[in-house]
Amino acid sequence: MTSSENSRPATEAARQRVCIVGISGKLGQYLTAHALERGYEVVGVCRPQSVAKLDHFGDRITVIPGETSDRSVIERAVAGCTAVLTVLAPWGVRDYSSRTAQAVMDFAPDGARLIFSCGWHVRASAADVYSRRFLATVAIASWLAKAMRAVDIADQTRAAEQIFASDTRWTLVRGSDLEEGESEGLPAWSPAVGSPLLESNLTRRTDFALFMVEAITNDALIGQAPAIVGCRSESALGHASSARA
Ligand SMILES: NC(=O)c1ccc[n+]([C@@H]2O[C@H](COP(=O)([O-])OP(=O)(O)OC[C@H]3O[C@@H](n4cnc5c(N)ncnc54)[C@H](OP(=O)(O)O)[C@@H]3O)[C@@H](O)[C@H]2O)c1
Repeated sequence: MTSSENSRPATEAARQRVCIVGISGKLGQYLTAHALERGYEVVGVCRPQSVAKLDHFGDRITVIPGETSDRSVIERAVAGCTAVLTVLAPWGVRDYSSRTAQAVMDFAPDGARLIFSCGWHVRASAADVYSRRFLATVAIASWLAKAMRAVDIADQTRAAEQIFASDTRWTLVRGSDLEEGESEGLPAWSPAVGSPLLESNLTRRTDFALFMVEAITNDALIGQAPAIVGCRSESALGHASSARA
């Protein structure tokens, strides 16, 4: 079992605490592994029915069960945190993503690094260029998912707009298509979707998480919405000179 909220050993008190919102999903578990590897104390939020998915982390993490959009759960989870890593997932049609993002921004300690995940479909500036095919695919998928009341992709976009308008120390990491597999290293990134650097459109999920954890200490990413791609993908290797550090 994972440890309960008040059972943290006193010897760990000096470690920097990081909260992972949406800790039980695939990305959340990779975030946890990278954060533990770097010596952070990890506190996470996930739905009560998903707590058991985290048993393999044992007492190395603290789990606060609850909906990530529940403001009182988030307020408790982010207390004392240096950084909050949030998996923005637009489930349902009740503003799950935007309510989660707002709660994180409202309750995270002043000066905390706030790192959020989403996909390339979230437009961050006029520099983002999308193909007609990409826009049509997103539009159809959004319509279908919302009609089934399963996912509201526009809500993830609203969450991003709230993040962009905030005066927090945010980074919104925009992922390409994802695949499983061993880490290849820190992804390459561009500030703008449509860059030739991103053409391969594939990143290992573990490396998406690695990028988010590394962003905690990379102040150059504050106020940025990097679009990422695997560092060993063909397009990243072919345009290495235009990749951002
Ligand atoms: N999948 C892709 O190809 C892709 C591409 C680009 C960007 N991204 C971004 O990457 C991030 C993670 O995506 P992922 O696909 O890898 O998913 P994931 O890590 O498996 O995460 C999904 C999250 O949503 C939660 N969840 C699942 N069903 C839910 C429900 N009905 N109500 C509330 N929460 C629910 C999961 O929690 P439980 O453990 O409780 O189920 C988990 O925390 C997202 O921000 C996504 O926008 C994904």
